[in-house]
Amino acid sequence: MSREKLVVVGQGYVGLPLAMAAVESGLDVVGLDLDTDRVKRLGSGQSFVEDISDLRLGAALATGRYLPTSDYTDARGFDVCVISVPTPLRDGVPDLSCVEQAGTALAPYVRPDCTVILESTTYPGTTEELLRPLLEEGSGLRSPDDFHLGYSPERIDPGNPVWRLENTPKVVSGMGPAALDRVDTFYRRIVRQTVPVDSTRVAELTKLIENTFRQVNIGLVNELATFSNQLGIDIWQAIDAAATKPFGFMSFRPGPGIGGHCLPIDPCYLSWQVKRRLGRQFRFVELASDINHAMPEYVAQRVMAGLSTRGRPLRGARLLMIGLAYKKNTGDLRDSPAIDLAGRLHALGARIRAVEPYADPRHVPTDLAMVELTEDEVRDADAVLVVTDHDGLDYDMIVKTARYVFDSRDRCRGPVVERL
Ligand SMILES: NC(=O)c1ccc[n+]([C@@H]2O[C@H](COP(=O)([O-])OP(=O)(O)OC[C@H]3O[C@@H](n4cnc5c(N)ncnc54)[C@H](O)[C@@H]3O)[C@@H](O)[C@H]2O)c1
Repeated sequence: MSREKLVVVGQGYVGLPLAMAAVESGLDVVGLDLDTDRVKRLGSGQSFVEDISDLRLGAALATGRYLPTSDYTDARGFDVCVISVPTPLRDGVPDLSCVEQAGTALAPYVRPDCTVILESTTYPGTTEELLRPLLEEGSGLRSPDDFHLGYSPERIDPGNPVWRLENTPKVVSGMGPAALDRVDTFYRRIVRQTVPVDSTRVAELTKLIENTFRQVNIGLVNELATFSNQLGIDIWQAIDAAATKPFGFMSFRPGPGIGGHCLPIDPCYLSWQVKRRLGRQFRFVELASDINHAMPEYVAQRVMAGLSTRGRPLRGARLLMIGLAYKKNTGDLRDSPAIDLAGRLHALGARIRAVEPYADPRHVPTDLAMVELTEDEVRDADAVLVVTDHDGLDYDMIVKTARYVFDSRDRCRGPVVERL
């Protein structure tokens, strides 16, 4: 009997870890990605996703069961296909063009009894109303009668060493009981626990609830942080104290803003749909988004005030930014609030140098001078800004050497430290 063939469309932060886990579980895996440069790098054993080491990628390639490719004809004869392509916003509106392209390109290879699963984050109804007609039209087959269609949201948390794909419960759904069974069986080869739900719409909403919940709660503590500062109360200590309550409280921490491919975007998919379908505003989402997007400006103002009380104007001041990625221990600069903050400070006349050990230098804006974290750099700076608190950096040295530290992550303590 031939081995089961899996196609993973999109070899990014979501698709690559899935492809690796599937190879390791014994499947034949085609990693399809339109980015030919990315495919070439993957083929030569170079991973660009921090959680997938070159060693692991090399081992997958060495099995002969992982084929990175840009050619959709390599999808021919697939048993299961997972689509994990980007779902960004364009002018504040969901942009599903990548899902549409993937569905259209895949459709000719859909055959009776195969299974297609969407993993991209999107608004409820996408699998049924957008993907299904594309696959049916291009294949001449029908779901659920001829092939199986499902949705399973991804919960991957880049940089998290504890919760990985394999040990994070996976919500699964299908259009009809047979599809659900296929989707569930597929993921049970890869993850320890699946969570079946009744419909693709429920699964789609599940993902949006998770990220909306996070965005709203971060908005809450960010707003509280600004008030606490004015009231002279230590918000960080108050949050840590509240977190000792064993029930009914979940800790979220303030910061310089939100970024990445998910948090600033996913809740907008939900508010857009609520507006379109119900004509209502999703006020929580809009408020939280407003507060979170105002944080880089707030931090810039606090730094300017902090320098001013030390007799130094921001114009001409030398700033050392620690971390540019939106998330600690990753090099992901997409929509990072640090880039926004750097732009604002630069526009106000500051001279900025930045320490970012994780990011690919090709993705860093060219007007940012990248430096190593050294005592000289810290000593020469009028202010050190802790923006992304990557582990493994010498924060003790920073606190001992710096004249002034503005810490937006509660990583530093000491007489020269001012916290968000
Ligand atoms: N990154 C995360 O932490 C995370 C977590 C959960 C869910 N998600 C969701 O998963 C989806 C994918 O996110 P990601 O972070 O992996 O994106 P990514 O940008 O890292 O990777 C997506 C890949 O898809 C490729 N692609 C685009 N259109 C294609 C097409 N038509 N055919 C083949 N390849 C195509 C791109 O070249 C890219 O390499 C998004 O909907 C995102 O919201 C992401």
